[in-house]
Amino acid sequence: MPRTVIAGNWKMHKTSAETRTFIETFLPLVAHVPRDVDIVIAPPFTALAAAHGALRQPARVRLGAQNVHWEPQGAYTGEISIAMLLEHGVDHVIVGHSERRTFNNEVDATVNLKVRALLAHGLTPIVAVGETLDEREAGITDERVIAQTRAALAGLESETLRRVVLAYEPIWAIGTGRNCDPLEAGRVMGAIRGCIDALRDVPILYGGSMKADNVAAYMAQPHINGGLVGGASLDASTFAALVRNATTR
Ligand code: PGA
Repeated sequence: MPRTVIAGNWKMHKTSAETRTFIETFLPLVAHVPRDVDIVIAPPFTALAAAHGALRQPARVRLGAQNVHWEPQGAYTGEISIAMLLEHGVDHVIVGHSERRTFNNEVDATVNLKVRALLAHGLTPIVAVGETLDEREAGITDERVIAQTRAALAGLESETLRRVVLAYEPIWAIGTGRNCDPLEAGRVMGAIRGCIDALRDVPILYGGSMKADNVAAYMAQPHINGGLVGGASLDASTFAALVRNATTR
């Protein structure tokens, strides 16, 4: 059985002070969520140190980053290495988010380099794939997301592949309030899972206007194991409600 993972992607939101305030409010609200559910928050790089301090050890909530460079060090202005993330207790890293593909030249080949580097250092990549509205309307959704998945995971052994987390995020559903129908999301996610044998037990998360009041409908789908949540992860009470609604059994 895949694990349940609910990850908050804060994007370019929150200072260190705002991050500490969020965590102080959030931790008590998720204290009773079952331990087999992984709750992750991914603040901006500048707030990771504050988040690591505020999460306390052993942390109920895991720390994620929104990007990483695959090289260990070097002349890469503006980039952040895996060692820098490890220093702040990061164990999950979002890779291939559509906003980075659109605005920051992220392509399948760099996604693959990042996934390999993260897995080699024992971190968990959250690999995001998804189709544009044009691709959906052209009827090539499955082809597109399967190609992205295969490219992101190319060259990895089955044993290693079992340590990834995937996220299906239809681009037209991100930040728009227009979420993908849960049945259709589950169908696409089943196609993603089916494209490589070793993905049988990896968590696949839905992302795109997931909210506290629609999360249960997604979690009811057999191939949906959690969420990658943007807007609804920014407020501690709202995100805690989403996590609870996702995990009530
Ligand atoms: P959203 O973002 O929940 O605000 O649609 C999801 C994401 O981009 O990961």
